[in-house]
Amino acid sequence: MSRQVTTKASGRTFTVRDGESVLDGALREGVIIAYGCRSGACGSCKGRVLEGAVDPGSYEEHALPAGERAAGMALFCQARPLTDLVVDCREIAGADDVQIRRLPCRVQRLERIAPEVMLIRLKLPSNERLQFLAGQYIDILPKEGGRRSLSMANPPHDDELLELHLRNYGGPFSRHVFGRMKEKDILRFEGPLGTFFLREGGMKPILFVAGGTGFAPIKAMIEHAIQGRVERPMTLYRGCRARADCYMNDLAERWNADHGVRYVPVLSEPLPGDEWTGRTGLVHHAVIEDLPDLGEYQAYVCGSPAMVEAARRDFTTRCGLPVEEFYSDSFTPAGGFPRASQ
Ligand code: FES
Repeated sequence: MSRQVTTKASGRTFTVRDGESVLDGALREGVIIAYGCRSGACGSCKGRVLEGAVDPGSYEEHALPAGERAAGMALFCQARPLTDLVVDCREIAGADDVQIRRLPCRVQRLERIAPEVMLIRLKLPSNERLQFLAGQYIDILPKEGGRRSLSMANPPHDDELLELHLRNYGGPFSRHVFGRMKEKDILRFEGPLGTFFLREGGMKPILFVAGGTGFAPIKAMIEHAIQGRVERPMTLYRGCRARADCYMNDLAERWNADHGVRYVPVLSEPLPGDEWTGRTGLVHHAVIEDLPDLGEYQAYVCGSPAMVEAARRDFTTRCGLPVEEFYSDSFTPAGGFPRASQ
């Protein structure tokens, strides 16, 4: 039987299904409450049950000492509601609320999803999960020094593996990934980082613009919004050079067909063999042609610095997008390494 859970701080309500923990239900419905290991070991998800009753589940004693449990505390990654609940928990509203950590991880899967794009899935140690906001990135810390920034393409509720999209820029890290990296290799990273994340609340239509592997954080945001049943109209403009660069096109088309996320792919240099009959040119030009009045929108733009800057200038000066409603992330040097996911 499903139970309703209401959080004290924001008054948000979500449903917890049979067999789910409070945290499982919250994440499934796009409500992010603080957590770490998701296995009852770290105490990060601890909060108080103000009304109702829970089965506390199994956990390590140090994470929830008996005195705290007797005082009404629970570990929400383990606790299962026995009734409807009102809980006092730490809700994550912005990047400042998320703990930045350094963790090891294992390369679980490598897959070339476009001629110059590698999909990397990373597995964290058992008993570890990374809490992040949809759109944030991590910095890979190569043994030889420096950093390589890559956005998470998976949404926060789907956190068993971290999904990264790496474009081959020909630098040392790209050469390593495309030439020598193998599944089961061990890496270290720091994160989550960045303030490019979906601002929830409000009813403004959302415009997503992704260039190249800037698709990665946008994918996380859209999947998070779908999961959280965000009812705001959403439109995705996606810029790629040629058809083969437009990886995961089927996925974007499914968002369109199943969830009403309007999808407009735009190729800048289609090849004759692409037999492309869709939009061509620069992706932000296509937006301006179709949406000359962005006064009511909120925009999330991720791609090369040139594309992001042109979009910022034109959307705000020509199309009336309020400056404060333009959110962006771009390929910028980070510790000597280019941001690879945008
Ligand atoms: S005890 Fe670690 S997330 Fe719940």
